[in-house]
Amino acid sequence: MHARKAITGILVNVCRLVISLTFIFSGYVKAIDPLGTQYKLQDYLNVVQLGQYVPDYITLVASVLLGGLEFCLGVFILFAIHRRLVSRLVLLFMAIMTPLTLWLAVANPIKDCGCFGDAVILTNWETFYKNIVLLAAAIVLCVKPLGMPRFISRSNQWIVVTYTIIFILFSSSMCLYTLPTFDFRPYHIGANIKKGMEIPEGAKGPEFETTFILEKNGQRKEFTLDNYPDSTWTFIDSKTVQISEGYVPPIHDFSIQTTDGSEDITDSVLSRRGYSFLLISPHLEKADDTNFGDIDQIYEYCQNNNYPFYALTASTDEGIQHWRDITGAEYQFYLTDETTLKTIIRSNPGLLLLKDGVVIGKWSHNDLPQLNDQSPKLERTEYGQMPQNSVTCKISKIVLWYILPLLLLTFADRTWKFTKWIKEKEHSNKIYQLFKRKKNMRKKIVAGNWKMNMNLQDGIALAKELNETLNNNKPNCGVIICTPFIHLASIAQFLNQDVIALGAENCADKEKGAFTGEVSAEMVKSTGAQYVILGHSERRGYYGETPEILKEKVQLALKNGLKVIFCIGESLEEREAGKQNDVVKAELEGSVFNLTAEEFKNIVIAYEPIWAIGTGKTATAEQAEEIHAYIRSIVAEKYGKEVAEDTSILYGGSCKASNAPELFAKPDIDGGLIGGASLKAADFMGIIDAWK
Ligand code: 13P
Repeated sequence: MHARKAITGILVNVCRLVISLTFIFSGYVKAIDPLGTQYKLQDYLNVVQLGQYVPDYITLVASVLLGGLEFCLGVFILFAIHRRLVSRLVLLFMAIMTPLTLWLAVANPIKDCGCFGDAVILTNWETFYKNIVLLAAAIVLCVKPLGMPRFISRSNQWIVVTYTIIFILFSSSMCLYTLPTFDFRPYHIGANIKKGMEIPEGAKGPEFETTFILEKNGQRKEFTLDNYPDSTWTFIDSKTVQISEGYVPPIHDFSIQTTDGSEDITDSVLSRRGYSFLLISPHLEKADDTNFGDIDQIYEYCQNNNYPFYALTASTDEGIQHWRDITGAEYQFYLTDETTLKTIIRSNPGLLLLKDGVVIGKWSHNDLPQLNDQSPKLERTEYGQMPQNSVTCKISKIVLWYILPLLLLTFADRTWKFTKWIKEKEHSNKIYQLFKRKKNMRKKIVAGNWKMNMNLQDGIALAKELNETLNNNKPNCGVIICTPFIHLASIAQFLNQDVIALGAENCADKEKGAFTGEVSAEMVKSTGAQYVILGHSERRGYYGETPEILKEKVQLALKNGLKVIFCIGESLEEREAGKQNDVVKAELEGSVFNLTAEEFKNIVIAYEPIWAIGTGKTATAEQAEEIHAYIRSIVAEKYGKEVAEDTSILYGGSCKASNAPELFAKPDIDGGLIGGASLKAADFMGIIDAWK
C-alpha cells in the first residue's frame, strides 16, 4: 500500500516537473518574442482562410496572452498553486493543442508549429508526440492534483501569482517595445550571414524522384528509372518530386536586389569589409514612422562617414514612395523576401549593423543608436563593438529580478511553515502535555444565549448572517448558538454545525407524556440541536428549578445525546458574604457531580455570577479567573486532573467584545456564555474574534 502511494507520488511529481518546465520554457520563448508569435498565429489564420478578417492588434494581443498564459500555468504547476484548477486548465490546454498538432502533422499546412518559438524547431510529428506525452502528464495531474506538494503556503500564493503575471507581461511588453531578450534566429548578434548561407562540403543535397508515364496498347502505366520498360512503350509524360530536402543551411533565403530586379547585390553587401547599416522593414505601409527623424540622422551620419546604408523591404514601389513622402527618406531601397525580413529583426522598421558581414548590432525603431554629425567614427563608439557576454548578462537579470525573489519568498515561507509545524508538534506532544499544564488543549467556546428574544424570522436572519460570516472567516474557537425552541428546527436546516453548533435554552425534566407546554430532551435532539443550557440562574430564580430538577434534566439530556452547558453562579449577597466558592460547589454537587467521569466529558460549565448578568457589571478578569481556577480544582478533586484539564469553563455576565480579550486571556477561562451581545452578529463576532 505504502509502495503504491510512493510510486504514485513520484509519478505525479515527475509529470508536474515535465509539464511545468515545458510550459515555462515554451511560454517564455513565445512571450519574449510577441511579434514572432503573432506571425505564427497569422500563418495559422491564413491556412484556414481567416487571415484577412482578423486585425493585427488582435493577433498581437493574443500572442502576448498565449505566451503569458503558458508561462503562468507552468510556474503555477511548479509551485502547486491552486492545484486542482490549474491542472484542469493545463488539461484543457493540452486537449485543444493535441488534436491541433495531429492535424498539423497529417495535413502539414505549416512546417514548424512554433511551440517553442524559434528556440527549438520540431517537426510536426515530433510536436504531436511531445503533446501526447504532455497530455498524459496533464491527465495524471488532473486525477491526483493533491499529490503535488506545495512549495509555498496557500496564504502566500497570491504573491507568486501576481509577481509572475507582472513579470511575464512586463517582459513581453519590453520585448515588443525593443527586441526579444534572446534571439534564437540565424541573424542573431554574432552571426556571419554569409557563413550561415554556406553548404558544407559533402553535405547531402536534396533528392528528387522522377516518374514516367508510358502507354502500350491503350494501357497507361507509371515507371521509374529503375524499371523503365522497352521501346514497345510510348512516352506520354513525366513528373519529378522532391523526396528529401537534404542539408538546408540556416540562412537559405537571404538576397538583396535592386527594386527593378536588375541587380543582386547580396554578395557585395555581405563580403564588404567594414561597417554597413541595414534598415529592415518587411512592410513600409505598416511600418511605425514615429522615429523617422532618428533614422534620417543615422543615414546622414553614414553619409558623412562613408558607411553604406541599405533599406531592405518587401514593399511595392507605391509602398516605398509612400514612406518617402511621409518621412522624406533619401536612402536607397532594395528588395528582400518578406519572411526573411520578418525573421531578421522583430521590429518594423528595425536597424542592423554589419561588420565584415557579421551582425554586431540590432535595434528596434524605439531604441535606435544615438548617432549624429558630432558622433565619432563607429570604431570609437559602443555601437561599433561586438557586445560582450550579453546572454550571461540577460540570464543574470532574469535570475535577479524573477528567480531570486521567488526563491527568497519560498525560503521565507518554508521557514515560517516549519516553525509553525514545530510549534504544533510541541502542542500535540503528549510528554510535553504531562509536564506543562496547557490551557490550550481544552476546547475554546463562545456560546450565545438568545434567551426570550427574536421572533422566528429575525432569529433565522441572525443565524443566517452568522452562518455566512463564520463560514467565510473560520473562527478560532467552537461557536454555539442557543435559541428558543421555536427556532431550532428551522435553523438546523441551514446551519453548518461543523462551524456553529446549535443548542436549546432548556428542556423538560420528564421524558415524555402529559406535561402541557414542556419540550423534552428527545424533542430538542430531534430538531438537530447538539447542546442544551441547563441551570441558568434565570430558570433557577424565576421558575424554581431546584438542584434535583436540574439533575433530572441533565440525565435526560445526556441520555438523548445532548451536551450540557451547565450554569452556576452566586448572587450579589452571596459574593458580598464571600460565599461564592461554596455556592458553585453546591450547585455542581447538587446536579452534575453524580455523573460518571465519562458522562462528565459532555458537560461544559458556565460560571455566571448573577450580579453580572444583564447588569453591565462584569466580574473583573482576576475575580473570574480566581473562581474558574477554584471550579477546576473541585472538578479535579472529583474526577481527576485529566478530566478537569479537559473541561471547558465559560464565563457569562455582561461579556462583550471590549472585555472578552482580557477575560479569555486568563488560563482557566475557556470562553464565554453571552446573552445580550449575542443578539447582533457584529457584537457576537467581536467576542468570537477575541480568540484570534
Ligand atoms: P448577558 O451577557 O446579557 O449579561 O447575559 C449573560 C447570560 O445570562 C448568558 O447566559
